[in-house]
This record gives sequence, C-alpha cells and structure tokens, in this order.
Amino acid sequence: MALLEVRDLHKSFGDTVVLDGVSMSVEKGDVIAVLGPSGGGKTTLLRCINFLETADSGSLVFDGITHDMAHISKKQISEIRLHTGFVFQNYNLFRNKTALQNVTEGLLIARHMDKAEAEEKGMRMLEKVGMADRASHYPSQLSGGQQQRVAIARALAADPEIIYFDEPTSALDPELIGEVLTVMRQLADEGMTMIVVTHEMDFARNVSSRTIFMEHGKIVEEGESKAFFESPREERTREFLRLEDRRF
Ligand SMILES: Nc1ncnc2c1ncn2[C@@H]1O[C@H](COP(=O)(O)OP(=O)(O)OP(=O)(O)O)[C@@H](O)[C@H]1O
Ligand SMILES: [Mg+2]
Repeated sequence: MALLEVRDLHKSFGDTVVLDGVSMSVEKGDVIAVLGPSGGGKTTLLRCINFLETADSGSLVFDGITHDMAHISKKQISEIRLHTGFVFQNYNLFRNKTALQNVTEGLLIARHMDKAEAEEKGMRMLEKVGMADRASHYPSQLSGGQQQRVAIARALAADPEIIYFDEPTSALDPELIGEVLTVMRQLADEGMTMIVVTHEMDFARNVSSRTIFMEHGKIVEEGESKAFFESPREERTREFLRLEDRRF
C-alpha cells in the first residue's frame, strides 16, 4: 500500500490554473525528485499536499485514510501534520530562538513533550545533521547551509513518515550546497521517504528513486530516475534536461 497518494489535484489562483489534475503515488522509502520550470506548480503541489494551501479539488490518501483535500477539517490536518515534515527554501527558522530551541519548539508545543526529553531529542537531531556544536547559536550566527541543516533537524525531530523539501539548496551559495545535499543523501540512505523539489540534477539522478517532471500544472513524465535520465520518453523532458545541463 502506498504511504501517500494524491488523486486528481486541482488548484487555481483566480483565473490562473496552477495544478491541473496532478496524481501521484509515494511508497515508503521512495525519494521523489520533482523537476520543472519556474511557475510550473511545484511549490503549490507541496503546499497543497501539506495543507498550507487549500486545493480546489482532489483527494489525498495518507496512511490508508482518504481525505477530500478541498474539505478537510483542521483536526485532520493537524493529525496528518504530526507525521510529515516540511523544509522550506528559506529555512523558516525563528530568528529569536537558538538552533536547539528551533528544533524543540514543535516537540514542546504540538507534542507536549517535557523539556528535558525534548532537549535530549533535539540534540540528537542536531548531531545527525552535524550541528550539535552550534546548538546555542541563533540563526543570524549561522550560515545558510547551517540554518538549512537546523531546519532539517527540526523536521526530523517529529519522526515524520515523509519529509517534503521545496528547493532546499536554491537559496544557498554554491559552496554551501554540498553540506545540505550530504545530509539529504544520508536520510535517503536510511530509508526516509522524501519528496524533493529541486534543480539539483545530480541529486535527482543519483539519489532519488523516482523523478517527476511537471510543467503548467501537469505531470509531463515520471519514472525511475535512472531510466528517466537515460532515456526520457517525452521530447519536452529531453529539452528541459538539456537546458538544465547548460545552466551549470
Ligand atoms: N498565493 C498565490 N497567489 C497567486 N498566484 C500564485 C500564488 N502562489 C503561486 N501562484 C502562481 O502559481 C503558479 C505556480 O507557482 P509555484 O510557486 O507553484 O511554481 P514553482 O513550480 O514552484 O516555481 P519556481 O520554480 O519558480 O519555484 C505561478 O504562476 C505563480 O505565480
Ligand atoms: Mg517553487
């Protein structure tokens, strides 16, 4: 049984159709790279799946339970969110909290963990992303790569069944991208289920198990990453991959 299934997701902003019937299925342990040109709907897809945006129609099956995405209750959203993590392009850390406090916040508030337990867990998560020695630093005292690793530790602290990443390295200086990708690769190797919107072609090709290419709110092509990159079926996919290659 799939961990997560999206069926016929539609979303418009005013007259602009942004998601035009997206369906996808995610198995436990899948690492899915989502590629596509700017404005194609990638961020909106992730935001709808995690209910940061309300879909116009579509269903989401999570852990075997089917939800109408346009009419889901706040309670159901909170329940699903207990099992998902989200990593944003711009880290979204609290500026007035330390690295450790950023990681423990959700454990204390949403999960009512006691402070000592939350801090112990928070430190373990920071260790996992190589940030334990910066636990008491504030975001302004950390590099972009370090902030993003703290954000990943925060997502991990919730023991999520799946983590969504929206261009986690695209705000970073080139020399800081590697340290974040290394952490993500390690999570993939450990079997974490992830959906990763990215322009990092090497990550998509070598780390993700499946790749999805979307444009104009539709999935143009998807497949096992090896086959996707070696022999894309659609001319539009080939063209996109050629253009991406040229950017670097
Ligand atoms: N809150 C919003 N209100 C109005 N239009 C929006 C909103 N969010 C996104 N859009 C529009 O939806 C379309 C898809 O945006 P989205 O951010 O999902 O694309 P994307 O594939 O993530 O692009 P990028 O690669 O640039 O991040 C764009 O035309 C965008 O302008
Ligand atoms: Mg985006």
